[in-house]
Amino acid sequence: NNRVKIKSLLEQPLIGAEVTIMGWVRTKRSNKNVSFIALNDGSIITNYQVVADPNVISEEILKKCSTGACLKVNGTIVESQGAGQAAELHASSIEVLGEADPEKYPLQPKKHSLEFLREIAHLRIRTNTFSAVFRVRHALAYAVHKYFNDKGFFYIHTPIITASDAEGAGETFKVTTLEIGNPPRTEDGAVDFKQDFFEREANLTVSGQLEGELAALALSEIYTFGPTFRAENSNTTRHLAEFWMIEPEMAFYDAEDNADLAEDFLKYLIRYALENCEDDLKFLEARLLDEEKSKPADQRSEMGLIEKLKFVADNDFVRITYTEAIDILRNSKPNKKKKFQYLIESWGADLQSEHERYLVEKHFKKPVILTDYPKEIKAFYMRQNEDGKTVAAMDILFPGIGEIIGGSQREERMDKLVQRMEEMDIPTEEMWWFLDTRRFGSTPHAGFGLGFERMVQFVTGMGNIRDVIAFPRTPGNAEF
Ligand code: 4AD
Ligand code: MG
Repeated sequence: NNRVKIKSLLEQPLIGAEVTIMGWVRTKRSNKNVSFIALNDGSIITNYQVVADPNVISEEILKKCSTGACLKVNGTIVESQGAGQAAELHASSIEVLGEADPEKYPLQPKKHSLEFLREIAHLRIRTNTFSAVFRVRHALAYAVHKYFNDKGFFYIHTPIITASDAEGAGETFKVTTLEIGNPPRTEDGAVDFKQDFFEREANLTVSGQLEGELAALALSEIYTFGPTFRAENSNTTRHLAEFWMIEPEMAFYDAEDNADLAEDFLKYLIRYALENCEDDLKFLEARLLDEEKSKPADQRSEMGLIEKLKFVADNDFVRITYTEAIDILRNSKPNKKKKFQYLIESWGADLQSEHERYLVEKHFKKPVILTDYPKEIKAFYMRQNEDGKTVAAMDILFPGIGEIIGGSQREERMDKLVQRMEEMDIPTEEMWWFLDTRRFGSTPHAGFGLGFERMVQFVTGMGNIRDVIAFPRTPGNAEF
């Protein structure tokens, strides 16, 4: 098959050459003398113009070239008379590979709402918006591997099925082969998981971190990049039940090294997208601008998408402690009506998303690395600071997104770790394998987790996390 991709034809027009292109019809305009078919094959956002002469292509075929139909077009590349595109394909033959009945095909050449498109997730990838998002998502995934590979980090595949709950938040999906209504029971009536497939309770992983730590204490610098699962019932524009997480873990890094790496990594990903996804980002920027027209003026963003990405890639992130953030919030008046009064006496409370937004979008107007949170609101594995109250945690907050990264220096001291686990009711016997790393050859180490979809959201400007993963898993949504 001598098919040429539309992307390569646009880069190198090959005037006069005879080529074959294949793709899906976006639009068709016809008059008595000629039909213009805009064809898209997904290789690039731009459609390619096919010109069909009714003396060459039969009326019957032309009728079938409706929006959504899949075509194989053979023809000659001719310099274009019209504005817009440099060249076009004058069809000598068209084969309709797959028809799309115009009465039934849900994607018509008009603007569909994102809500409507979410209901037809199996087809929405054919729209400009979603094909752009998924090309950018691909580029970012590739950049993740490139970044770490170039730095000598090793990619570790951590298990999807596990018995541990790394975050200790009790938000796991159970994995079982037992009969739900009638499971085997022990003498005292409890479900007998000894008779289950894994001979114990198992669940889908919430994070690859614990296994990542094991690998870092052997290979020095590693990262994971895989699906993670959380059964948190949060119907928000930032949460998925199944999301992809990138988790680097580094031996011999302290909290500052960890923050330096995280900042450098985020900026690298943004620059990579700016350099490699220009067409798609321009399209997405225009889409956003259009969407914002319907918002009141004070809710529109001050910068266009590309300007915003450059700004974040080119400027230092702010680094402050949780305690400093609380002081800022105490002295703040986010708007005339509302103060963050309930934070005033409450050092120790977790920040709500409105607090994070205030810090990032109103106060600093920059990404913020927040460190040294109270130990009570963070996971058991974080390193305890000298003050006895805080841990060496790090969250990175992004404008429009909120928390994009969570990480920490890890508690490498056996006695402190065991003490904290006991305080938090984490079973130390079951975690013997994790504690072995502290028992044998322990060393300071650190790591973080980047929520991949939140990063794709930031770079594409998509407002809802369900629109940056092909088949979102959210409460009540697992059909396809
Ligand atoms: O802050 P989290 O829970 O941290 C961890 O899981 C650590 N084990 C990471 C580490 O240190 N290796 O999650 C990390 C990031 C969050 O900052 C957020 O970007 C993303 O994962 N995330 C979610 N993304 C989409 N949907 C959800 N339900 C998410 N929960 C967390
Ligand atoms: Mg977190």
